[in-house]
Amino acid sequence: MAKSKILITGGTGYIGSHTAVELINAGYEVEILDNLYNSKRNVIDKIAKITGVRPKFTEVDLMDLAALKRVFAEGEFATVMHFAGLKAVGESVEQPLKYYEINLEGTINLLKCMLEYGVHRLVFSSSATVYGDQPAPLNETMPTGSGISNPYGWTKWMIEQIIKDVCVAHPEFSATILRYFNPVGAHQSGLIGEDPNGRPNNLMPIIMKVAQGEIPELSIYGNDYDTPDGTCVRDYIHVVDLARGHVAALEDLRSGVKIYNLGTGKGASVLEMVKAFSQASGRPLPHKIVGRRAGDLAEVYADPKKAQAELGWKAKLDIDDMMKDTLNYLECQDAKE
Ligand code: UD1
Repeated sequence: MAKSKILITGGTGYIGSHTAVELINAGYEVEILDNLYNSKRNVIDKIAKITGVRPKFTEVDLMDLAALKRVFAEGEFATVMHFAGLKAVGESVEQPLKYYEINLEGTINLLKCMLEYGVHRLVFSSSATVYGDQPAPLNETMPTGSGISNPYGWTKWMIEQIIKDVCVAHPEFSATILRYFNPVGAHQSGLIGEDPNGRPNNLMPIIMKVAQGEIPELSIYGNDYDTPDGTCVRDYIHVVDLARGHVAALEDLRSGVKIYNLGTGKGASVLEMVKAFSQASGRPLPHKIVGRRAGDLAEVYADPKKAQAELGWKAKLDIDDMMKDTLNYLECQDAKE
């Protein structure tokens, strides 16, 4: 018998689709909402191919409150997992109002529907960006909201606050906020992975484009940081580990707000990532050192102990798995063309 039904907003996106797969594999019934702004409808076919179960999909924009209410009226959801939102850091600096409007209003509409239709369980996709510029390792007791360098990051911080306030006003509400570090990699099937529309901004999608010859070389933003090799250090986490963290969070939801880092606790530098990718592909990855990118921090990595202690979740896949699965995804994409 299917376990309780989960609504996934942004479920055709990178993290949402991997989470849908893990939820279905764990026996949950999943319904996906997406406006397909930065993802493709055929992701649903791929989820069906991986799991043997086709989730119900509705193309809805969270800004369309009337359409969202119709979904809730029919859905009988036990829990909402909220991934939908805009996430391009650079674009958020250029178009702040678009980010505040869409990310905040979309979430507020979702929360209105949850309250109106008696759905009181929420898992929210937040980001380590809320810690701002504090020294790593970052843990959940640290203050947030100082040194956030872009409107995208502020929307995550503000949504966390909105969720906390809703939980105070509605004690029947349970919410878990997951702060992601740097998700990379792809599903082992090679069917789903990161496939952003337009020009990528994050490291791995750019490395993928360089490997495919679509971008001539990777520009490494600075090698004069106070880190072992001078390039920035991040906590890269395999997207399948991240997705499994959502299942663990769901199974532990209880009233009030809980916050967890989802990271590995281990930092890797940009040069280490380049080396690992070259080793996995057997080919050098063209790269050059350029100046620093505004807003980048030298070292960002998680203290992941709380999720392990309370959720029993720990990242298991390493950088070699991340590279191998990224390459497999690229090969599967190329084979289709
Ligand atoms: C960024 C955002 C973060 C967001 C995350 C996922 C900032 C300060 N942080 O994290 O809020 O949650 O993306 O969208 O913008 N790099 C290069 N060359 C490139 C691209 C990246 O050297 O062409 C380096 C960066 O300097 C960084 C690392 O690779 O050290 C990772 O960059 P990126 O993937 O953009 O993630 P973050 O900057 O960590």
